Amino acid sequence: MNKSVVILGASQGIGAALVDHFAQMADTTVIALSRNLDKMSGRFLQKNVRCYRLDIAGEVQNQLAQINLEGPIDILINNAGLLINKPFEQLSHQDLTESYQVNVIGIMEATQALLPQLATDAHIVNISSMGGFQGSLKFAGLAAYSTSKAALCAFTELFAEEYKATSLRMNCLCLGAVQTEMLSAAFPGYIAPTSPAEMAQFIANFALHNGAFFNGKIIPVSSSNP
Ligand SMILES: NC(=O)c1ccc[n+]([C@@H]2O[C@H](COP(=O)([O-])OP(=O)(O)OC[C@H]3O[C@@H](n4cnc5c(N)ncnc54)[C@H](OP(=O)(O)O)[C@@H]3O)[C@@H](O)[C@H]2O)c1
Repeated sequence: MNKSVVILGASQGIGAALVDHFAQMADTTVIALSRNLDKMSGRFLQKNVRCYRLDIAGEVQNQLAQINLEGPIDILINNAGLLINKPFEQLSHQDLTESYQVNVIGIMEATQALLPQLATDAHIVNISSMGGFQGSLKFAGLAAYSTSKAALCAFTELFAEEYKATSLRMNCLCLGAVQTEMLSAAFPGYIAPTSPAEMAQFIANFALHNGAFFNGKIIPVSSSNP
C-alpha cells in the first residue's frame, strides 16, 4: 500500500537518515522539510523524495499553506530540534524563546497546519530527548533544551487525550545519544553508541508498526547515558 511520510528537520542527522530509510521503500513517498533546501535537494536524489523549505521558527501555517502538501499523510515525524548548550545564568531571552519556538511551538503549529492532510489513522511521532524524560540523568547547560523537550512530551499526552475519539495516534520517543552534528556540538569528543542510520531504522519501524499499540506514550529509547 502506498504510504506518505513527512519528516520535519530532514537536512542532516537523524532526519536525513530517516529520509534515506523511508526512500528505500518503493511504495512510499517521502516529504523532507527543513530550512536548508539546497542541502536536502543535493542529498536526496531518490525519485520518491520531495524536498521543501520550512522554517518552524517562522510563520509555520503560511509556509505550509504555500507548500500545499497533498494528503493523506500516513506518518508525520516531528524530528526538527535545536540544542543550545549554555550555563543557566547566561541563557538570553532569545535563547529561551528560540529553543521553545523550534522544539515545542513550531512542532505544535506544524502539526496543527498538517491536520487536514493527515490520514484518519495517521501516526505522529515526536522526537524528544532523554533530557526531557522525567527522572533521567540531567546535564548542566541544557536547561533551555531539556525543558523544551519535556514540554514536547507533555504535548504528546495532551494531543492523544484531545483526539482520543479519533484514529489519530501521537507518541513521543525520548532518544539517548546518537552520533550527529547536534551531539558533537553539545558533547565534544563523546562517541555515541548509536548511528543516525541505526536510530532511523528504529524510529521508522516504530512509526510504521506501533501506532496501533501506543498512543500518547513517552518512550525512552536509550542504551547509554546520555
Ligand atoms: N543526536 C542526539 O544525540 C539526540 C538525542 C536526543 C534527541 N535528539 C533529537 O533528535 C532530533 C534530531 O537531532 P539530530 O541530532 O539529528 O540534530 P541535527 O543534526 O542538529 O539536525 C536537526 C535538524 O532539525 C532541523 N531544524 C533545526 N531548526 C529548524 C527550524 N527552525 N525549522 C526547520 N527545521 C529545523 C535542521 O535542519 P535545518 O538546519 O536545515 O533547518 C536539521 O535537519 C532533534 O529533535 C533532537 O533534539 C537527538
